[in-house]
Amino acid sequence: MSFQITILDTNEVYSCKETQHLLSGMMQLGKKGIPVGCRSGGCGVCKVKIHQGAYATKKMSRDHVSQDEENSGTVLACRVFPQTNISLSVIGHLHKAVMR
Ligand code: FES
Repeated sequence: MSFQITILDTNEVYSCKETQHLLSGMMQLGKKGIPVGCRSGGCGVCKVKIHQGAYATKKMSRDHVSQDEENSGTVLACRVFPQTNISLSVIGHLHKAVMR
């Protein structure tokens, strides 16, 4: 099953399977400079805020995402798997790369 992921900052849409994390789908957009770090929730470069949609998460470093942030939808894209279509915005390093 594949879902549509909308990056609100740029209105770009990409598809992402439920078994694929949001960062890997984003990389397929072929944008240059998407920071790809550890891909395991430890480095914090892939921060996004989910505005709409349901998702499953895997463990994320508390150094990068506090419990409050996680509760409000701020997550690491390499640890998030879509369960519905999702709208997100990009934060920090990822924001700079996506807006380039
Ligand atoms: S790539 Fe390191 S936290 Fe996502």
